[in-house]
Amino acid sequence: MRGFRILIIGFGNVGQAFFKLLNLKRDALGVNASVVEIIDRRRGHIVNPGPGIVDEARSGKLLGRKIDLDEIPNLIEESDADIVCEFTDLNIRERGEPAFTYLSTAIRSGKHVITTNKGPIAFHYDELMELGRKYNRLVRFKGTVMAGTPSFNIIDLLPGVRVNYFMGILNGTTNYILTRMYEGMDFNEALRLAQERGFAEADPSLDVDGWDAALKTIIISRVLGWRHDLGNMEVRGIRNLDIKAFGDRVVKLIAYADKETAYVKPIPLDRSDVLAHVNENLNALRINTDILGDITVIGPGAGPIETAQAVLTDLVYIINNAGD
Ligand code: HSE
Repeated sequence: MRGFRILIIGFGNVGQAFFKLLNLKRDALGVNASVVEIIDRRRGHIVNPGPGIVDEARSGKLLGRKIDLDEIPNLIEESDADIVCEFTDLNIRERGEPAFTYLSTAIRSGKHVITTNKGPIAFHYDELMELGRKYNRLVRFKGTVMAGTPSFNIIDLLPGVRVNYFMGILNGTTNYILTRMYEGMDFNEALRLAQERGFAEADPSLDVDGWDAALKTIIISRVLGWRHDLGNMEVRGIRNLDIKAFGDRVVKLIAYADKETAYVKPIPLDRSDVLAHVNENLNALRINTDILGDITVIGPGAGPIETAQAVLTDLVYIINNAGD
């Protein structure tokens, strides 16, 4: 049987980690899928990459035909891949472009899509879902929230359950910075360390000022059928935060949403609250439900291999659910 053919767009840390993880787990999972094409603005257009590609890609050098950014939609359209995996960087100023163009072109030309990019999902959720329905293709985006740690996807395990609200710690960089600040480190030094560890966004103000967590809040909300966007949310980050001002309570950058309201801001938590003890770059999501009360998930929310796990989760879903 012909296996699923994958086109990767964006071959940075996440793309490389996914390539490796797929090779590592393919046999154990019995997954008949392989990467047949890679498009990367620096590394070029690579066809039929071999297993050595990850080591070669680390240098960032050109490894295939040099491309213009403008030709990427054409390359996507012409590709005979079955699944497009989109791993480009978040661009909030351009409201998720050019990733949205890449994904919509892929769906229109008959491909299922997986993305780890928050921009196109947070800004174009309805359009992407509508396109997916129209072209009978699947649109998966687990890696946009809490990497491979179950988050909004646990809703699928709870038929009939109503979510009243959710709250959580959805940004690893700011949680890491706050953890270091409670140990006495200053903000700038802690941010520098977070960047060094590789979980901050390319533009770290997206983390520090709350935008990354806000987009994740929007994405979870959309999955739950709520219609929040940046226009109706209060978004505050941790810049200039005085952690000593909260006495015995522990301040965390909290993302919250119910059907009516959504926000991201620093909130002081009692020490009896489990979220007060979620430290380092960990994320947490508490879902308050009508039947089960609170369900809380804690786990890694960033990092290449952690995000690659989310892509594998989406890939297996597509393989099991793709109609034709
Ligand atoms: N910059 C993000 C974070 C990466 O720190 O949580 C994962 O979305």
